[in-house]
Amino acid sequence: MSRFRAFARRPLSGPFKARNFMTLTAHPSRALTGEIAVPGDKSISHRALMLGGLAVGETRVTGLLEGEDVLATAEAMRQLGAEIIREADGTWRVFGVGVGGLKEPATALDFGNSGTGVRLMMGIVAGHPITATFTGDASLSKRPMGRVITPLNEMGASVHAREGGRLPLTLTGAERALPITYPLPVASAQVKSAVLFAGLGAPGQTTVIEPKPTRDHSERMLKAFGADVVTEEGPKGVRVVRVTGEAELTPCQIAVPGDPSSAAFPVVAALITPGSDITVRGITLNPHRAGLYATLIEMGGHIEFLNERDEGGEPVADLRVRASALKGIEVPPERAPSMIDEYPVLAIAAAFAEGKTVMRGAEELRVKESDRIAAVAAGLIANGIEVEELPDGMIVQGHGGEPQGGGHVATHMDHRIAMSFLVLGLGTKKPVSIDEGHMIATSFPDFLPLMRGLGAEIAGESA
Ligand code: S3P
Repeated sequence: MSRFRAFARRPLSGPFKARNFMTLTAHPSRALTGEIAVPGDKSISHRALMLGGLAVGETRVTGLLEGEDVLATAEAMRQLGAEIIREADGTWRVFGVGVGGLKEPATALDFGNSGTGVRLMMGIVAGHPITATFTGDASLSKRPMGRVITPLNEMGASVHAREGGRLPLTLTGAERALPITYPLPVASAQVKSAVLFAGLGAPGQTTVIEPKPTRDHSERMLKAFGADVVTEEGPKGVRVVRVTGEAELTPCQIAVPGDPSSAAFPVVAALITPGSDITVRGITLNPHRAGLYATLIEMGGHIEFLNERDEGGEPVADLRVRASALKGIEVPPERAPSMIDEYPVLAIAAAFAEGKTVMRGAEELRVKESDRIAAVAAGLIANGIEVEELPDGMIVQGHGGEPQGGGHVATHMDHRIAMSFLVLGLGTKKPVSIDEGHMIATSFPDFLPLMRGLGAEIAGESA
């Protein structure tokens, strides 16, 4: 196995240490076999630390994702006054200060690569009469924050941001936040959650109207913490969510289930690598997160849901996945919010399918950790796979067998681009390399050992 190459050394701010840029290379692999558990769900992990910090007393969290994004949220909550301790057995204890009890942080809050961390925390700070500065890495500093700033301004917060509503920004929360009714201009769980979290500090009811339903972890968890949250389903998928403010949150125990967005990588790897048969344990199949699995099954993927159960208010199952001959399909555009983070790895599955896979309605991909439509298209082309880029998605011309491979892929500081193209290289004729792997640690720190344990041949180190 070849050793990694260090390209450059670059200092990172805040809790992030200086690291090397690492290339990683995935080689055509033998059948993947075995049973794994992927790390805890990222969305649920962020929310557990945030709401734990806003409850009165001790919340205990097991199965927390210990990726860099979530660790940045833990650090920010500490700077805002919550005490957060990790026990040796991996249990996280969060001693909350109560809604309204956060203190002004002495230094800037650094969210690294995490859009969820920064946007949800902006909502929380907006509901407190304090000032905080929010920063992030180069990728996060390019992403739009205006979508959160607009409703938070309406609620009484004031924000000074870089041009275009970018980080770094300084937010002063409202002395007394106003409850608002906010129709979301984009289907975004982050914006919905920011408004609901700000609404915790406002008198009366804060209402968010969603054009299309997005992940509902905030609503589920707010209820678990004893908040008064009501959801009404309207026509054509419109959903209205109301939270009653000036809430007292009661601490609780949270068992974080496995992340379906992380499980997507071994699942697609097994589907495209001949002879594979793997089981991924304990994945949440919350209907607002499971769109990829419905899509892969429609493409002919052998995916079985075993031991379906309810854990901590979320539906959970073990997934058994076997290598499959896939066929291209048109992915229903209305499914986009339930699989928004999974399009890069779906494009990899599509490259192996017989015929075209059409993905539309996913314009939000343009403003994720990278422009994921452009990054995926460039990566596929570099590996001899035909793709047509659309403003809101792409059409991948499937190969119906092993694509060529042999390309070197630019990841643009995007963990999901990195992992997707490593999955591609397990099934192509020639190895596929990526320019840097360290961003994988933001969401899936054990990606390399877990994949190698299944039999994936990936050379290099990511951290
Ligand atoms: C997330 C919501 C989604 C998703 C992100 C996590 C969340 O973003 O892409 O990875 O935890 O609320 P948007 O709300 O911007 O669609």
